[in-house]
Amino acid sequence: MKPKVYLTRLLPPAVMARLEEETQLTWHRDDHVATKAVIIAGAKDCDALLCNITDPVDAEILAACPCLKVVANFGVGFNNIDVAAATVRKIPVTNTPGVLTDPTADIAFALLLAAARRIGEGERLVRAQQWTGWNPMQLLGADVSGATLGLIGFGRIGKAMAKRARAFDMRLLYWNRTRLSPEEEQACGATYMSKEDLLKISDYVSLHVAYTPETHHLLGVAQFAMMKPTAFVINTARGPVVDEAALVQALQSKTIAGAGLDVFEREPELHSGLYECENAILAPHLGSATIGTRTKMGMIALENLLAACSGQRPPNCVNPDIFA
Ligand code: DGY
Repeated sequence: MKPKVYLTRLLPPAVMARLEEETQLTWHRDDHVATKAVIIAGAKDCDALLCNITDPVDAEILAACPCLKVVANFGVGFNNIDVAAATVRKIPVTNTPGVLTDPTADIAFALLLAAARRIGEGERLVRAQQWTGWNPMQLLGADVSGATLGLIGFGRIGKAMAKRARAFDMRLLYWNRTRLSPEEEQACGATYMSKEDLLKISDYVSLHVAYTPETHHLLGVAQFAMMKPTAFVINTARGPVVDEAALVQALQSKTIAGAGLDVFEREPELHSGLYECENAILAPHLGSATIGTRTKMGMIALENLLAACSGQRPPNCVNPDIFA
C-alpha cells in the first residue's frame, strides 16, 4: 500500500513526479501558505505530512491527524514544528540537512559583498536613471579582502561560509556552543572567541545558528552597541535570532554600518523601518532557492517519509529518542 501523504505546497517537478508515483498524494494547490484548518482537513487521514518551514505544525494539528507516522519538513530548520508534541505522540520529525549548506553559504557571502560594496544602493541609482557618471567619491563601500569575519554558529553552513571567506584572505573568528578541537580549528583557520569579543573585533558578523529559545534575539541593543560602527551583520539563519527593532535602530543611528538580511522576524512582514534603511540589503529568504537544491531537499523529505511509513527509522530524524 502506498502511504497517504498530504503536501502543503507545490514542490519542484521531479519531486512531484516521484510523490505522485510512490505515494497516494493530495496537496494544497493554492499557492499560498496553508491555514491550520486546511492542513488538518488535508492531513487528518494521512500517514505523512510533508510540510514547509512556513507551516506551524503544532500540537493541535498533530492531535487532529491521528494517523500520522511522520512529519517530514521540507527544510533544514524545523522551528516551525512542535517537536516536543510530536515526540510525545512518537511521531518522527525529519528535516533535509546537508544539501542546502553551499547555496546558503553562497547567499550569505553574496549579502556580505553586496552590503559592503553598496550594490543595492548602486542598483537603485542606475535603475532610477539618476547616475551621472563615474565619480571618485561615489558610493564608497567597505573592504572585504583582508577584513575580519566573525561567525556565530560554526556548523556545516558556518564552515562553508568560512571556506568562501578564506578565498578573500579574511581573518576568521568563530563562536559556537561547542568549541572545535585544535586540529579542526587549524584546518578551518578559525580562532575561537567569546561572543562579546567576536562582536567587538569583527568587521562582519555572520549568523549561522539554529533558532531555539536560547538563540532568540541573540543580537539586540547591547550586542549592536559592542560592534564597531564600521561593522556589518549578515543573517541567513532565522529572523528572530536578531531583534529586528534594535537592528533598525542600529542601522538608522549608524551604530553599525550595514546589514545583509535573507531572513526576518515575522516573514513576510518586515519592521517598517527596514524598508527605509539604505544600508541594508534585503533578500526574500533565498538561502536554498536553486532548482537543484530544492529538488534535492524534496527527494530527501520523500526518502524520510517513505522510511517512516514503512516502519523504519528515517535517515534525518530530529527526535531520534522515540526509537530508543
Ligand atoms: C531551511 O531549510 O531551513 C531554509 O531556511 C530554507 O531555505
